[in-house]
Amino acid sequence: MIVLGIETSCDETGAAIVRSDGEVLSDVVQSQVKLHAPYGGVVPELASRDHLRNVEPVLVEAATRAGVKLADVGGIAVTCRPGLSGALLVGVQAARGLAWALQKPLVGVDHLVGHLLSPFLRFPNLESPAAPAYPFVALLASGGHTALYRVDAPSIASIRELGATRDDAAGEAFDKVAKLLGLGYPGGPVVDRLAKEGNPDAIDLIWPMRRRGSFEFSFSGLKTDVMRWVEKNGRPGNDATLRDLCAAFQRRVVDTLVGKAVAAASSEGAKTLVLAGGVAANRELRERALAAATAVGIRLVVPPFRACTDNAAMIAYAGAQRLERGEHDVDIEISPNTALPRVTRKGRGERAARA
Ligand code: KG4
Ligand code: ZN
Repeated sequence: MIVLGIETSCDETGAAIVRSDGEVLSDVVQSQVKLHAPYGGVVPELASRDHLRNVEPVLVEAATRAGVKLADVGGIAVTCRPGLSGALLVGVQAARGLAWALQKPLVGVDHLVGHLLSPFLRFPNLESPAAPAYPFVALLASGGHTALYRVDAPSIASIRELGATRDDAAGEAFDKVAKLLGLGYPGGPVVDRLAKEGNPDAIDLIWPMRRRGSFEFSFSGLKTDVMRWVEKNGRPGNDATLRDLCAAFQRRVVDTLVGKAVAAASSEGAKTLVLAGGVAANRELRERALAAATAVGIRLVVPPFRACTDNAAMIAYAGAQRLERGEHDVDIEISPNTALPRVTRKGRGERAARA
């Protein structure tokens, strides 16, 4: 079965055509990064308006590149949660109109399920690691989300959150620190580049929730610590101090993510750890996760960068799994929240006590 996927949950307008086995026939992403850059973050109203402008050309481009007529797809999948309401509405309304006009089954997809299944995508002319075997543990770290999941099968009922951030997402922390240092948006890539030449031990910042046994994260205290450092010492210019500050901040984020991700995979008895979401592009995260996972006999799977950042191919793949099970949605509700089950406080405590 080939499926059309549509993604408009945040600041990327995406359309893709993907086979249910993960082969990507086309994957078109129109990024709004430049539009939001002057504001240091995504402006919801501007995002919705830009999706409205771009959704049709992106759809046409996806069909053209795949060499298929939209009338030939087996079904349509669209991100319906979590995301910005006005942004989600644009994609969902386009998908509903197309499904009605073409008489195709329609499924709503949770964006986070899309990210978690992204290691199954196969892009032409792009080297992809072998797909992970179930069950696996995944660290999903992006601008909007940071959490650990156990994935037993490609369905929402078979995915369980093991712990999430209590405040900022990891990518959000990169973006806020970059804004504070006058480095622009998005912050991850530039902090990553500067950190490479800095000394992570030269500046003493707090370590964010490194407590063993808990799979929760918290990055806002570290961000505040960087802010305090800048208040006390002044904003560094483009010099060695700036590189040291970036290196110290990044080391603390990365070590926390890696430590908890590898501990979660070990405690779940999973043989594979997957990195997903935009922060998975981080050089130090990839290197340190590979070393830590390999040391305890766990295989690390990092999808290609374009599969890690927001795209419609992962939505098409996740939707295809639902369609193949004969599922479809008559009505699609949008929501700012994920439908993935969250562990209760009690559950966390019980696990923390065992670990
Ligand atoms: O998954 P994504 O494209 O969009 C969301 O769903 O949020 O992730 C974007 C986030 C941004 O916060 C960006 O700063 C971060 O991923 N990011 C990085 C790197 N590249 C992108 N963070 C750290 N290091 C990077 N190299
Ligand atoms: Zn995302």
